[in-house]
Formats: sequence, C-alpha cells, structure tokens
Amino acid sequence: MARLELHGISKRFGDQVAVAGFDLSVEDGELVTFLGPSGCGKTTTLRITAGFETPDTGSVVVDGSEVTGLPPNRRGMGMVFQGYALFPNMTARDNVEFGLAVRRRPPAERRRRVDELLGLFHLEHVAGHYPHQMSGGQQQRVALARAIAVEPSVLLLDEPLSAVDAKVREELRTEIRRMQGQLGITTILVTHDQAEALSISDRVVVMNSGVIEEVGTPARIYAEPRSAFTAGFIGAMNELPVRVASRREGLVERAGRRFAAPGATELPDGAAALLLVRPESLEPIEAAAAASEERPVLRGRVDVQTFLGATMRLFLGGVVWGAAAEGDHEIEQLAVDVPSSAAGRWPVGTELSVAIPVGSSRVIAARTAAEAAAVTRRPGSART
Ligand SMILES: Nc1ncnc2c1ncn2[C@@H]1O[C@H](COP(=O)(O)OP(=O)(O)OP(=O)(O)O)[C@@H](O)[C@H]1O
Ligand SMILES: [Mg+2]
Repeated sequence: MARLELHGISKRFGDQVAVAGFDLSVEDGELVTFLGPSGCGKTTTLRITAGFETPDTGSVVVDGSEVTGLPPNRRGMGMVFQGYALFPNMTARDNVEFGLAVRRRPPAERRRRVDELLGLFHLEHVAGHYPHQMSGGQQQRVALARAIAVEPSVLLLDEPLSAVDAKVREELRTEIRRMQGQLGITTILVTHDQAEALSISDRVVVMNSGVIEEVGTPARIYAEPRSAFTAGFIGAMNELPVRVASRREGLVERAGRRFAAPGATELPDGAAALLLVRPESLEPIEAAAAASEERPVLRGRVDVQTFLGATMRLFLGGVVWGAAAEGDHEIEQLAVDVPSSAAGRWPVGTELSVAIPVGSSRVIAARTAAEAAAVTRRPGSART
C-alpha cells in the first residue's frame, strides 16, 4: 500500500498540450477518480504515473521515493488500460495468472492466488474460457483480477467500465469499490461518467484541458462546485445569469430584485455571475407567495415532465423572475424536481412558481468563453 504524489507533471505532444502543471497527492488506500471530457489528459496522466509515458516536467513519487525514471514493471503498480487488452490466446485463468508467472512465483502459490481472485470477481465458471467466449463484463472482471493479482501498491484503472452496459457497469463499480476497500489499494480510476465518479470515489479530480479544475469529495463537488466548468459537468444544474449587487452584503441582483446568495462576497461589485441551483433544491410554492430578499422566486410554464423514479423532473419554459406577472428577463429553461407522487399537480401546460430556498444556491463568476466552449451547453438552461 502506498501514498502517491504527482508533482508539476506536464506533457505536450507536438504543440498539443495534454497535461499542464498537474499536482496531486493520493493517500494510502484512497480511491481517487479523474473526471473530465474526452481529450482533457486523463489517460496521459495515468500513463505517466504508470511509466508508459515520460513527462516533459515533473515527478512521480511513491511512498517518498521518486519513480519518474523507473520502467513500469519496477513501479509496483497495476494498470487496466482503456479498452482492457486481455491476451486473446489465454484463458481467463491464464490471463489472471500472467503477472505471477512472469514473477516466477511458486505454482502452488499462483494457484491459490488465482482461485482467490476468480472467486472475488465471480469468474469461477468461466475460468477456462478464452476472451472471445466471455461477455464484456466478464472480460472486464478478468482485466481487473489480472491487474490486482500481483498485489500492486497502486492500482490505475483507465475507464475500466466503459465497455459494459449500464446495469453491469453499476454492479462492477460497486465491486471495484468493495474490492479496493477490502484490499486497501491506493487507486486512481479514470472516467468521463460523473455518476460513476461521484458514486465510488473518496475524492474526485475534475480535469479540463490538461489542468485540474478542482479536487474534492463527491459531496463537496456536488454541493459546492467552485467553477462553472465543474457545475456544468457534474449533475443537473440550473444556471441563472445574475449580477453582483453588493460584495460587502453578499447580494446579487436580477430583474430589479436584490437577494442574498452564498458566494457573492467572493466576487467584485457589478460582476456578471451565475446563480447555480440544483433542480432538487427548488421548492414549488403558491403563485401568490411573495418573493423576498432571502427567498427569490421564479415562475414558468411546465413544458416537459421526465420520470426519474422517485422524482419527476419538470422542465419549465418562459421562465421569469418573481411570482407575479410583472416579471421579465426570460430564462430559457429551468429544471425542477418534484416527488413523482406529487407531479400530477403540475401537468404539461400549467404554470408553476418555485422559490430558491436560503442557502441552497451558490454564485460563481460567469464562465469565460473558453469554458463555455468546453462545456458546449448554454447558460440559463438546465444541464442534465
Ligand atoms: N501519443 C500521442 N500523440 C499525440 N497526441 C496525443 C497522444 N496521446 C494523447 N494525445 C493528445 O493529448 C490530449 C490528451 O489525451 P488523453 O488521451 O490523455 O485524453 P483523455 O482525457 O484520456 O481522453 P478520453 O476520455 O477520450 O480517453 C488529446 O488532445 C490527445 O489527442
Ligand atoms: Mg483516455
């Protein structure tokens, strides 16, 4: 088991910057995910960590010792590559045993270890199968078992679940978490699936264009994203354009109304900003209820209802600030989650007023043009 540190890692391919100034410490036994869009440098960072790629700058340190110059097989790391390359001419058992055979472990020990891993990953019944005789999920399990067989001190998983369907994916990610916890292996898992990252990580590293956008626990990243990029990338989020009215008082302004919003004290007076509110935070209210400085109100027409199980997500169009008709300043779309059992009260075509409860929103600086391009969705609309 090990503590892993990446210091100032940078890597270019020609004039393409893949990773720039990447700093991260992963604690002993911790599971960290790299989350970000395609091409943001996740695989490159993982390959540099494993030793398959040499960084232009920076160092990789395991338990206080620098390993930057060491070849992959001397770093004590196990890696599952994107697209899990199993040896096609070997059975599941032989694939799992491969690293132990290379290390010339005694046959009895190998057999015991492989049996244990086949059991851990529910692969006993396909032990004699070749990769083409196994399902995608089974092959994925074999790739994981093979990486773990040699008892790596660090496990690097590059999109280990990308090739399997949604149900198997969910089962496997629970298994990875259980196995990782049982064995206490320091693990980095790469994904571009935010639900996957939030569900199994101790901490999430949000990456964008080769740099770390932010690092935090799933709960913190979800509740208090610190950048517009993270907010847009993780979970469904309403982004409502506002302006900072008073930094000192923590007030923002929209449609002639001022209201308190967490985060406003960190932005300059007059700054263009986004008020972030999760669909589940918005509270349906009676249309007559007044807005106040503590509790701004929005109103719109239900355009679409989407069933999510316990909740129904309502998409409102023609949205205005304020509960009464004097509102203007249209917001393109607003997502509101209500209990499915209550959704019958707001069929498509009806009007709905919602309040933004105190403390449930957060203000951040409006995204830059570059961020907007990276996220590719429009401000003022719900991100799902
Ligand atoms: N060997 C290479 N030669 C040239 N460019 C490369 C090479 N490897 C990666 N890149 C470039 O570096 C950037 C980062 O690539 P990387 O594979 O790390 O992204 P990623 O986050 O893993 O993406 P994905 O989610 O699609 O797997 C990309 O722009 C990619 O085109
Ligand atoms: Mg990749």
